[in-house]
Amino acid sequence: MALVAILTVGALIGCNKGGSSGSTSTSGSGGQSSQQVLIGVAMPETHVQRWQKDGANLKTEVERRGYRADVAFGDADQNKQNQQIQSFLTNSAKLLIVANVNDGVAAAIADAARDKVPVVAYDRLIMNSGDYDYYITFNNFKVGQFQGQAIEQALGLKTVNSDSPKIITLFAGSPTDNNAKFFFDGAMSILKPYIDSGVLKVVGPYPPSSTDNANFQRIATENWQATVAKTRMENLLNADAKDVTLDAVLAPNDTLARAIIEACLTDAKYNSASGGKLPIVTGQDAEFASVLSIKQGQQYMTVFKDTNRLAEAAVILADQILKGQVPDVPGATLASGDLASIGNTGKKTVKAYLMEPIIITQQNVNVPVDAGFYSEQEAAQLR
Ligand code: GAL
Repeated sequence: MALVAILTVGALIGCNKGGSSGSTSTSGSGGQSSQQVLIGVAMPETHVQRWQKDGANLKTEVERRGYRADVAFGDADQNKQNQQIQSFLTNSAKLLIVANVNDGVAAAIADAARDKVPVVAYDRLIMNSGDYDYYITFNNFKVGQFQGQAIEQALGLKTVNSDSPKIITLFAGSPTDNNAKFFFDGAMSILKPYIDSGVLKVVGPYPPSSTDNANFQRIATENWQATVAKTRMENLLNADAKDVTLDAVLAPNDTLARAIIEACLTDAKYNSASGGKLPIVTGQDAEFASVLSIKQGQQYMTVFKDTNRLAEAAVILADQILKGQVPDVPGATLASGDLASIGNTGKKTVKAYLMEPIIITQQNVNVPVDAGFYSEQEAAQLR
């Protein structure tokens, strides 16, 4: 009897010491039991810096809670990500945390449901799927409102006369990313009244909201690719925006904001070296390069979405789901009322847990720094 007791305790200790060697990347410390519960983490890509950080944070948080983590990056290829998800399921993952590339992920989510493996959609709603129940993200409509409010405030739109309107051009995120619609519609909820009154003039395509799909597709940026945004901005500067001076560019995230600024700097109208002045350029994700740009007076603002806290909250949610508990996620509120539609996949409305974003301008770049969002070397350059 004593031998059985010792073996049992040994196995339990093995289970609680943190991750073991995973199939794609990961491990905890020390030789661990392979009986550990596996959580599969599927991130969309690495060319947008934040997802590299999200993947690393999720691995840390999964292992901190005694689970094994397998983390995979889809390289903006949904077929590749679906294969990675299948691999998690083959390796008996007991829960998946997924930030999808596009809604082609629904087929893999259906397989997870068939295997009774719960899925947490991570910062991107999985559209056209009724096969999962949980989504955790930020209030992305508010992210867009922050972008619109920054332009409103920087251009003083409340006191501009329509006889001399301010001029803006519009960019949106990936057409395959449901968040992109929330960002854009949040911004237009602030800017559209000024456009309607003639105080703000749009150069280039103008969808009043993301429901104007034809025009939205014309300002959207496939897979959030910086090269796509830079080329489009260069084309605008040589055509629709050739004979005007832009006062603002609605840029949906930092990767695209920096690409747009690069394009502007090739035009004397906007390059300070030739007496020019950059337009107000928005962003989000508080990427180091962009917060440095804000500190240096180039990009105008970003939105800090503390993905360190998002990863922690996602794994707390995952742990509660695996333990059969009613989720109660610190720092995240279950969307209700008007916000409940944030969880509408088109097939069902999943439980959407929302965390609060923070607007960052030159006046408060200390906020992400003080939150420990950067490496020491990066933080030293932002202080
Ligand atoms: C969105 C996300 C943004 C930004 C973008 C680029 O889904 O909400 O924070 O990271 O992807 O990947």
